[in-house]
Amino acid sequence: MNQKKEPIIRVIDLIHVYKGKVETVALPGISFKINKGEKVAIRGKSGLGKTTLLHCLAGILKPTAGKILVEGRNIVDYNEDQLAEYRCKKVGLVYQSFNLAPFLTIEENIEFPMVLAKKERRERKERINELVELLDIQRYLNQKPAFLSGGEQQRVAIAVALANNPDIILADEPTGNLDLENSQVVYQYLSDLCDHFNKTLLIATHDPEASKYTEREIILTKLKSQEL
Ligand SMILES: Nc1ncnc2c1ncn2[C@@H]1O[C@H](COP(=O)(O)OP(=O)(O)OP(=O)(O)O)[C@@H](O)[C@H]1O
Ligand SMILES: [Mg+2]
Repeated sequence: MNQKKEPIIRVIDLIHVYKGKVETVALPGISFKINKGEKVAIRGKSGLGKTTLLHCLAGILKPTAGKILVEGRNIVDYNEDQLAEYRCKKVGLVYQSFNLAPFLTIEENIEFPMVLAKKERRERKERINELVELLDIQRYLNQKPAFLSGGEQQRVAIAVALANNPDIILADEPTGNLDLENSQVVYQYLSDLCDHFNKTLLIATHDPEASKYTEREIILTKLKSQEL
């Protein structure tokens, strides 16, 4: 079988300009493809648009121009309802600052996206059990996030991102607040779980270490890029 794989993500001539007193061209017109199940590091120096790109891919930020085809559909054209559904079910986000709700327990944090997605209680509990076992955080289920170390909180954040079984995991500097040892642990979990569940993983970072856990890297530069 030599069928050409249809990429899960196709970014075409993506431009984003932040308007303000001064205009900042955050994305100068970039194009690339990501295959389903691929793990890719998006690297580049500070200010080159990594977070902007991830926010566009997450459906949080509408780019100034260009297309983002996800399974062939241009999410840039989505209306608010379609975007809300896309954000809830198609993508999972992991941030530098863990982004857990401080007043909810670890179990409630992982459950929350599934409540939003109107999953039934039994399904929610099964998914929580599966994820906490894989991430080795079972013992913290009834704790609040502040009780956990940074590395442990980021493992919870990975569980939150995977809770609704999204096809795409977007991680923005996921180890930015961690020491080297915890960074390696978090990269390994991200990589292993994305393999285990056949997820597509994009890690935006300036950290070259990330590339050890991905199959390919896309390097952002100041120049308008051709196909990356
Ligand atoms: N909300 C905003 N309003 C105006 N300009 C912004 C905004 N967010 C980002 N920028 C600018 O857009 C450019 C790209 O920023 P972005 O945060 O995407 O870069 P980055 O590669 O993620 O950087 P870092 O490695 O520091 O996280 C920068 O010049 C930044 O100053
Ligand atoms: Mg950033």
